[in-house]
Formats: sequence, C-alpha cells, structure tokens
Amino acid sequence: MSPSLNPSALARLLGAWNLGAAPAYRELADVVRLLIMDGRIPLDVALPSERALAQTLGLSRTTVTAAYAGLREQGFLSAGQGSRGRTGIPHRTVPVSAPGVALPDGILDLAYASLPATGEVVHRAFADALTDLPALLPGFGYDALGVPALREAIAERYTAAGVPTTASQILVTSGAQHALNIVLRTLAGRQQRVLVDHPTYPNALDAIRASGSRIIPVPLPPPTAAGAAASPGWDMDAMVAALQQQRPAMAYMVPDFHNPTGRLMSDLQRRRLVRAAAASGTVLVVDETLRALNLDGGTTSPLAAFSAAVVSIGSLSKSHWAGLRTGWIRAEEDLLGRFIATRTTMDLGGPVVEQLAAAGLVRSLEEPLGARLATLRENRTVLLELLAEHLPDWQPERPAGGLTVWCRLPAASSTALTVIAPEFGIRLAAGPRFGAGGAFEQFLRVPFTLPPDQLETAVRALRSAQDRLDAAPQLRRTLKPAPAVAIA
Ligand SMILES: Cc1ncc(COP(=O)(O)O)c(C=O)c1O
Repeated sequence: MSPSLNPSALARLLGAWNLGAAPAYRELADVVRLLIMDGRIPLDVALPSERALAQTLGLSRTTVTAAYAGLREQGFLSAGQGSRGRTGIPHRTVPVSAPGVALPDGILDLAYASLPATGEVVHRAFADALTDLPALLPGFGYDALGVPALREAIAERYTAAGVPTTASQILVTSGAQHALNIVLRTLAGRQQRVLVDHPTYPNALDAIRASGSRIIPVPLPPPTAAGAAASPGWDMDAMVAALQQQRPAMAYMVPDFHNPTGRLMSDLQRRRLVRAAAASGTVLVVDETLRALNLDGGTTSPLAAFSAAVVSIGSLSKSHWAGLRTGWIRAEEDLLGRFIATRTTMDLGGPVVEQLAAAGLVRSLEEPLGARLATLRENRTVLLELLAEHLPDWQPERPAGGLTVWCRLPAASSTALTVIAPEFGIRLAAGPRFGAGGAFEQFLRVPFTLPPDQLETAVRALRSAQDRLDAAPQLRRTLKPAPAVAIA
C-alpha cells in the first residue's frame, strides 16, 4: 500500500491557505501544488479522501473535488484512483504561450543547483576502481570509517591546504547530507539549539528541524548590487552576540561559497568566528561542499586551519558528480569516534567501488576542475547579463563562487512565482525554503548550472511569469505573506 497523508497533517502543511483572493478550489489546488513542487508533500503519497479533507478544512466536498480535479488535470495527482489519487510531478510541460519563450523539451529545473558529471574523468575513475577492487575482495566489505585509500587521499588534501590531518580523522559518508545527519544526531537534538547563517541550504534546515533542535537563524547582511566590488560577507557582530547569548550546542555554517548567496567568508571573519564558538562552547560545523567552486580565485584557509575543534563536512557532489554519493567528515579523533558510533546506527559503511573511484578523483582533484570553473564563470556572466536585460528591477547578488545567484525581487512574490513557474516551463525553489519561519519571500535563488541557451530560455520564462504576476497581483496573495522572523 502506498503511503498516505492524513487530513490533519495536510491541514497543518496548508497553513492559512484560504485568503479569498480566488475561488477556494483554485487556492487550495495552488497551495497543494506548491507543497508538492517544494517537496513538502512527498511524491507518490495518497492525499486524504475528499470527504475527510472537506470535513477537516470545513469546506464543501464540491470544493475539494474541484481542487483535486484541477491537480489531476495538471498532472500533480494520479488519475483513475477515485478520491485517493497519489501525488506526482507532471512529465510534460504545459505549452508556453508567452511571446519570446521557446518551448523547452521538458521543464527547465532551476530548483536544483547541480551539474552533470565531469564526464570522462569520472568514468575513468570507475574503470581504475574496478582494477583496484580485487585487492579488497578478500576482506569483509564492511568498513564504517571508509576505504583507507580514500581516507588517506582526503587527509592529504586537508594537509596540503594547511590543515594537518591524518586518515584517522576522516569518516567517509554517503555525501554531505548524510554527514550532517550523523553530526546532528551526535551533537544536537531536542532541547538543543543549532545556529545557522540565514538564508542557508534548505536540506540542512530540514535535517536540523528533523533532529528536533531549535534553529537560531543569524541573518546575513543584505546583498549589495551585482556590480558592487566588496561582498557584504557575514555580520560577525550579530554572529558573536547570538553565540554569547544563546550558547547553541552547534553552529552549521557554509563559509565557502555559501548556498544560496555564493559568498566567501574572509580569514578575518573566520578567526573571529572560531574564537566566539570556542567561548560559547559551540561546536562549529562547516559545510565545505562548494569550496572547490572558487570562481574569483579568492584565497582563504579552510575553517579548520583556525581551530582543531572545527568539524568539516565535504563532498564530491559539486566538484565532480552528485551520483558518486561520496562525502566525508573531518574532526578530532575523539569526536570522530562518536560520529562513527552514530553512523553504525544508520548504516555499516559505503559501497567499496564508489569509494575507490572517489579516492582516484580526490588524488587528482584539480584535473577536471579547470574546465568546470571556466564553464561556470561563463554561465555566471551570461545569467547576470540576462537578468539585467530582462528583469532590471530584480537585484541579483554577484556570487564569488558556487552555483547560484541570490536575487532580491521587487515584491514578496517568490512563492507565487514558484507556483505559476511550471506553466512557463520552469521549476523553482521558493525563497522561503532557504530560511526559517517563512523568511525570504522577497528572494529567489537562480542557479547558473544550465548552459547559456537554456539560461536564456529560463530567464525569459521568469520574465513572463513576473509579467503574469504584475498583471494579476491577486495571484501574489494566493499564499500567506511571510511573517517577520524572530532573529536572535
Ligand atoms: C551547502 C550544501 N551542502 C550539502 C549539499 C548536499 O551534498 P551531497 O550531495 O554531498 O549530500 C549541497 C548540495 O547542493 C549543498 O549545496
């Protein structure tokens, strides 16, 4: 039996959906559609029966029937299942009627900021891994720490970057998200506070929420205009104050080409941060997933260079390919021992061939990066030019690295844009996904991972979607406006 969503769980997710800006069935369908696209309602779950949902929401059954019919028509609910249709994402895009917008084959996905594999290099690493495999076949195949060759290669990279590291300080994980969950389960939990820079990576926020910890968001200073020379960086005074006052158990930060803004924290700020974390007894956990994507050549030391107590999380997902599912944790040996104990409650190690391939890739990390960085630099320029040409009232921040541009919109319309985006052939991640408490309704993250011709199609589609909102401002009110967030 496929999983199902009960009516009160759906009611909670819907929040204050009924604003009377449009017929109730349309508003209901719009909000459910957003929740599906946003990942807050999982795919392939059965929605509540029409009768049960109507009762819970205090609506007529006809309203729910009409909303479900609309979702079915658009492909967000499976057909032919009576009232218990299952959620899904439509495979075909609705034809784009706006002038100037080419019809893409499928929806252009601007919700993901990820690149295809560094082709030949990844393939070759797997071929080499198969050659190395026979030497490991006599072993049990279980290794909760990771294959030694990979741990040694990762340790060597830290050492070369100015952070002396041995293989015994490295735990290999199935990507950075797995690493973060291990760390959270070890260091955080109910009654604990976890400080984050705000905005931040949505899946990290979800993992922190799932751990039961309380999120302490510390706002990043507002973006400066795309042409501005100096990055606004981090508000270290606010960060230090929050550490002193809240004494969080842990802080999760993305100092290296921060997602979504692409900012790089200066060495000066890094030094201040580790000092403040040490004073408040907070374990500083830094996510270095994007560190290799240094587009402007900024020079900084990894945060662990400033304090041995820093926990670093890394990944090959952005430098090489997310399909490798290979990441790691670097920490002092005692703490790493606790992470290993936590890890074995979840799984007993990663697949060996992937780790052997990853070891080869880490040993020659720079090989595919030059071409990748050149492509990303060009894409960044193209995207910023397209935004300036087609959406001059948007304020994009020029990122120093990473994969995305964080844009301030002229109005609080991020969620509404996300809801109507598929009609224009694009999928978006709404600004509030990057924050706590509904913040960032006036922001949108746009990745520059697509090739220039697709970026042009995407930006023209964004323009058309924005025009549609401008022409029908009530659409913007389809969802509740973001409440002001309490920020420590
Ligand atoms: C900051 C950050 N951390 C973690 C991840 C996820 O990494 P992984 O694929 O290694 O789990 C991403 C992916 O976008 C990211 O941007």
